[in-house]
Amino acid sequence: MGTENTVLPYFNQPAPDIVPMVHLEACNKHALMQHFLALTSRDRYLRFGYAIGDEQIQIYIDQINFDQDEIFGIFNHKLELIAVAHIGISRMPEDTRQAEFGVSVVPKAQGKGFGYRLFQRAVLFARNHGIQTLTLQCLSENGAMMHIVRKAGMTVQSNHGETMASLKIPPANLPSVLDEWMQSASARADLAIKKMTFRAAAPD
Ligand SMILES: CC(C)(COP(=O)(O)OP(=O)(O)OC[C@H]1O[C@@H](n2cnc3c(N)ncnc32)[C@H](O)[C@@H]1OP(=O)(O)O)[C@@H](O)C(=O)NCCC(=O)NCCS
Repeated sequence: MGTENTVLPYFNQPAPDIVPMVHLEACNKHALMQHFLALTSRDRYLRFGYAIGDEQIQIYIDQINFDQDEIFGIFNHKLELIAVAHIGISRMPEDTRQAEFGVSVVPKAQGKGFGYRLFQRAVLFARNHGIQTLTLQCLSENGAMMHIVRKAGMTVQSNHGETMASLKIPPANLPSVLDEWMQSASARADLAIKKMTFRAAAPD
């Protein structure tokens, strides 16, 4: 009996819902700039709280401390950075460590769950890095972000059109460490594959 056309049942199953969120470094500054330039002026306003200009975005990127903070990004198959999360980690004593979450998704990729997945990734990162509280600040008019805040069960304080939200983070455990390890490894592998296929498809 020939086996060449046999497909193992496992490979007929739908792939798990993996969203590869990769750790970004200083070498990704250009992609970060392209990401923020792709936001609408309304989205820039919602992300930074004011009508930030291109030069100020460049300053913001140049001032990111890649050694202290954590930045996650989602690349599409054209290697465009379609979503970015910045986890700003405060210099506080070990037992009161806090981090602030900021996120943006380019208009063509909004509404596909990337914003919420990046939030979940930030929570996992915080948990495994001894951060006790994850906070975020957004305008109360920001419907999508307020939805994420409520869905995550964050504690909310609103004042004069601004909302401060915070989430207590439990300590790390074995499943949380393994989960992060698996997510980091699969995101790196996914990016390597995207780079290979994108370069192979690019004209000489
Ligand atoms: C806010 C933002 C990051 C959300 O990212 P996103 O990938 O579009 O969001 P998601 O697809 O994960 O959806 C979030 C949820 O909000 C809901 N939602 C979207 N727009 C909404 C609105 N106007 N009102 C209420 N809920 C809304 C979605 O239905 C979804 O709900 P579900 O998960 O229960 O189905 C994105 O819109 C963005 O980049 N906005 C501009 C920058 C910004 O506001 N940053 C936040 C500052 S911290």
